[in-house]
Amino acid sequence: MSLRNISTKKDSIKISDEIDKQRIPEHVAIIMDGNGRWATKKGLPRSVGHHKGVSVLKEIIKVSKKIGCKVLTVYAFSTENWTRPQKEVDFLINLFEKVLKKEIDDIHQESIKIKFIGELSPFSKALKSIINISEALTKNNNNFTLNICINYGGRQEIVKVAKQISQKTFSGEIKPSDVNEQLINSELLTQGLKDPELVIRTGGEKRISNFLLWQLAYSEIYISEVFWPDFDEFEFCKAIIDYQSRNRRFGGIESLTEESFKDSSCS
Ligand code: FPP
Repeated sequence: MSLRNISTKKDSIKISDEIDKQRIPEHVAIIMDGNGRWATKKGLPRSVGHHKGVSVLKEIIKVSKKIGCKVLTVYAFSTENWTRPQKEVDFLINLFEKVLKKEIDDIHQESIKIKFIGELSPFSKALKSIINISEALTKNNNNFTLNICINYGGRQEIVKVAKQISQKTFSGEIKPSDVNEQLINSELLTQGLKDPELVIRTGGEKRISNFLLWQLAYSEIYISEVFWPDFDEFEFCKAIIDYQSRNRRFGGIESLTEESFKDSSCS
């Protein structure tokens, strides 16, 4: 079945059958956007959109596990989100704490490893404490990894790596000629994680917004017009099927014969 034929939610049972189980992206990253617009459109406070966003995240974790993804990395709070009205910032930080306290036992039961990625120092003691507890509790779980990016910014991450590497060079631990992609990877906050094969952005905006700038270099990008609170199994499977139709060349070309390349500048 082609994506064009799968247009209604009624097809969502069928849609998961359409996924090629041999080509599941191991790591999917998601920019969960559109909570505020979803709520405003319904005449509701933005906080309702964020609340609904939590239940959508739970559903997408379940579906990801079901189809065989191994890692999900979600953008929950960017370094730029601090510029929002203080009330919304406080609400989001409280929400992270409350949700984590409520869900951590289930997350552990499901054998999910949870990791927080970002500069955590500005957060409250209470949030940092439940983050530490959750990461420690789930660190040996190997079924599935959920990375939650909070106070995360791709540029800030790269600056941090540059500082770490400069320090190591200055102290003589490494030489400038030792700096390569592998070393940078090992200094990133995502160290040890495979780069995402697919990044999904909901809410229709067509930008990366400072998310995983280094790691997304060759990721396939899928933009969903659907606001995050309306995103669901059907929409997620659509993204996966679309990803599976892509021809990933990583800057190369599929096959080149002597015939198919002619230098047009020489005659
Ligand atoms: C973007 O929508 C969403 C956020 C800034 C918050 C995302 C948080 C959640 C979905 C809750 C996740 C909970 C946990 C525990 C990780 P927006 O507010 O920018 O929407 P808009 O673009 O329509 O204004």
